[in-house]
Amino acid sequence: MVAHQWEPPELCTCCASPARIKDCFLNGGQAWEIEKSWCANAARIMPSLPRVYSEEREFVRRAIRFAVQERDIHRFLTIGGGLPDTEPMDDYVLPFTSGQVVYADKDRYVLAYLDLLASEHDQIDCVRGDFHVPGTILFTDVIEDLLSDGTPICLVLNGVLDATDDTEALAATLGCYTERLPPGSLMIATHATVDGLDTDNTADLALVGQMRQVCQLFRTPHWPQRHLRTAEELGHLLRGLDLLEPGITFTANWANPRRAGDRRPAESLCLAAVAAVPSLRTAYASVAGVRASGRCAR
Ligand SMILES: C[S@@+](CC[C@H](N)C(=O)[O-])C[C@H]1O[C@@H](n2cnc3c(N)ncnc32)[C@H](O)[C@@H]1O
Repeated sequence: MVAHQWEPPELCTCCASPARIKDCFLNGGQAWEIEKSWCANAARIMPSLPRVYSEEREFVRRAIRFAVQERDIHRFLTIGGGLPDTEPMDDYVLPFTSGQVVYADKDRYVLAYLDLLASEHDQIDCVRGDFHVPGTILFTDVIEDLLSDGTPICLVLNGVLDATDDTEALAATLGCYTERLPPGSLMIATHATVDGLDTDNTADLALVGQMRQVCQLFRTPHWPQRHLRTAEELGHLLRGLDLLEPGITFTANWANPRRAGDRRPAESLCLAAVAAVPSLRTAYASVAGVRASGRCAR
C-alpha cells in the first residue's frame, strides 16, 4: 500500500450527490433542487425507498450505541462520512472526553462542510481521501494518531460498499483497513440488497425491479451506480472478522427487539452487520485449530 498525493475530484454541481440524496431522505435540510427532484423521482419508482434510508439510519444508531455502551469504544472512523447533520455518532460519542469522530470522504462539497465542522469541534476531524485507495486515508496524520496507541476503534462503512461491483477487489480493499485496526475494533457495515425477497411472489418481484432501477439512477458522470449483494457476499467481504450476533440481518432486524424473529426484509432491503477484529490470541487459536484438524483454509 502506498501513500498517494491525492486531491478530491472537482466539485460537481450538475448531478445529484449521494451525500445530499441521503440527507434529503433523512430530512437533514441540505439537499439542493437537483437532489429533491432525484429523490422524488426515485420514490415514485420505489415508494418504500425513504423507509430503506430511515431503517438504515436507525440500524447505525443502534450499532453505534452498542459499540459505545457494550464495547466501550469511543473513537470512530466513518469512511464516506457524508453530511453529519443527520449522523447519530456525535450524540453518543462526543459526551466522552476520550470521544473522537473522524469523517473521511472524497466529495469536495462534503469535505468543505466537514472541514468547517472539524474546525469548530476539538473531538471531530476530517480526512480527505478515497476509500478505494486506502493509503489516501490510512497514511494521514489524523488516522495514524487515531491508531497509534492500539486502542480499539470503530470503523463505520455505510453507503460506500455498494458503489463497486468487484467483490474480490472490494474484499482486498477492506483487508487493507482491517489489518490496520487494533484487535477488538469493530466494523459497522451496511449494504443494499434484494436478498430474501421471493421472486415467485408478485409484490416481491416488483420490489426487485424497483430496487434495480433505483441503483441505476445513481449513475452519473461523477458517481457510479449502486450494486446489490447477498448476505453471503457481504459475509465474504467481512472474512477474517468475527461476525457479532445476530449476524448479517436486514437493517430493521439487527438488535431490534421490536422485530426479533422477523427474518423478512420488510422493505428495509439493506443488509446490516457488526463484526470485530479478532484478538491475536483468537486469530492464533483459529489457525491452530485448522492445523490441528488437518484442514486447510483454502
Ligand atoms: C450515501 S452517502 C452516506 C453518508 C453517511 N455515511 C451517512 O450514512 O449519512 C455516501 C458518502 O460516501 C462518500 N463516498 C462515496 N464514494 C467514496 C469513496 N470512494 N471514498 C470516500 N468517500 C466516498 C460520498 O461522497 C458520500 O458522502
